[in-house]
Amino acid sequence: MQKKDVVKEERGSFRGTIGFVLAAAGSAVGLGNIWRFPYLAARDGGGLFLVVYIVLALTFGFTLLITEISIGRKTKQSPLTAYMHISREWKWIGYFQCLVPFLILPYYCAIGGWVLKYFTAFLTGHGDDAAEDGYFGDFITGRTAPGIYMFIFLAICAVIIYMGVSGGIEKSSRIMMPVLVVLVIVVAVFSLTIKNDDPARGVVTGIDGLKVYVIPSLKGITLKRFLLIVMDALGQLFFSISVAMGIMIAYGSYMPDDSNLVKSVNQIEIFDTVIAFLAGVMIIPAVYVFMGPEGMNGGPSLMFVSLPKVFAQMGVLGNAVGTAFFAMVLFAAVTSAMSILEAVVSSLIDGFGMSRKKATVIESLIALVIGLVVCFGYNIFYFKVDLPNGTTGQILDILDYLTNNLLMPFTCIATCILIGWVVKPDTVIKEATRNGEHLGRKWLYIVMIKFIAPAFLLVLLLMSMGIIKLAD
Ligand code: PHE
Repeated sequence: MQKKDVVKEERGSFRGTIGFVLAAAGSAVGLGNIWRFPYLAARDGGGLFLVVYIVLALTFGFTLLITEISIGRKTKQSPLTAYMHISREWKWIGYFQCLVPFLILPYYCAIGGWVLKYFTAFLTGHGDDAAEDGYFGDFITGRTAPGIYMFIFLAICAVIIYMGVSGGIEKSSRIMMPVLVVLVIVVAVFSLTIKNDDPARGVVTGIDGLKVYVIPSLKGITLKRFLLIVMDALGQLFFSISVAMGIMIAYGSYMPDDSNLVKSVNQIEIFDTVIAFLAGVMIIPAVYVFMGPEGMNGGPSLMFVSLPKVFAQMGVLGNAVGTAFFAMVLFAAVTSAMSILEAVVSSLIDGFGMSRKKATVIESLIALVIGLVVCFGYNIFYFKVDLPNGTTGQILDILDYLTNNLLMPFTCIATCILIGWVVKPDTVIKEATRNGEHLGRKWLYIVMIKFIAPAFLLVLLLMSMGIIKLAD
């Protein structure tokens, strides 16, 4: 058998459109939906943020998703090798589409390990310990535990990827995604039913918290603040739909030719946005009832510090709700991490002719080593750096900054120029409508990919670099 045949044999495919949509939605729904979306919404005028986000999803998000999935399906190639089949001179974009997931995987797995630790703590009835001050800090500064949990998390993802596209990714997504939806709904409904008699604020209910979340607030709105809200929503959307990480190209390359690509993109976006919205319904009322509006923060401290305290205040039910919550977060994190592993593995398969099994083992081992360095960033290798976007952090934050704030917008701008100006939007439109599907927003696609999307991304990039400053 020639090398080419080996590669062909290894190149799997999703069995059906639903499998593809669930897998892609699984990638899109991740930690960002849970710990960042609700926080931004609470900070940025509640319903106002939601409206801005939805408008951007239907225009900007739609354009970028269609583009990457079409590139994947048209070329049937990995992120690394797809671009050279579009244009020889622009094949370098592929190197970035492969570098980004390579850099994200280790730190995403480190965080996945934290989620696994909390899930285990709640599952074994130790949720109350997790609510103690200092629990999170003690855990991540420990030398062995974070590495072990990260290893287990990474191993789960590796086993799924090792089993292939339809046998691993599709099968596991078909199980995990429906369970995730059920868990989100259960916790969200519960969150709306809670109430607390607060000495300072009187009786506060979950519905009061919901109002803060969904009713648009125009208080103190100025043009500058509105622009800031738009940029917050844009940055969040960009990260949330998993573009510029190689993932959608890899998954697109496994999408059946007769699947309706336009419809699938709409479904992925609806899935991603609805789960992000429901994450807010789970989190905001609960935090509001027990901690007030000041309790709402974003990022790791929301999930690993504030929420365990909220669960502890729920009394006997708290441990069960916490278990359901962290199970749901774990599913969201696994389906995202496995997609990012697949982006690299598919590149090794297509670019270097490796077998899937060998590629999975090699990349997982590399991610393990870098992941351990990330974990040691909180003890042995501890240092603090100021980043150009105004935040400070450790190794994890540096990797996050490098990928999310610099490499991803840059890669995506390059893709917009290639498709919009060099090979022309018709390349993507033809692929997206290859079975005679109707692309209702065709003119919108052309305007977005040529002008608006790259302009937005450039502003995002300049803001990350600290060159444009919108915040006060
Ligand atoms: N959309 C994902 C999230 O919200 C983004 C992501 C996917 C990040 C895969 C890392 C890996 O978490």
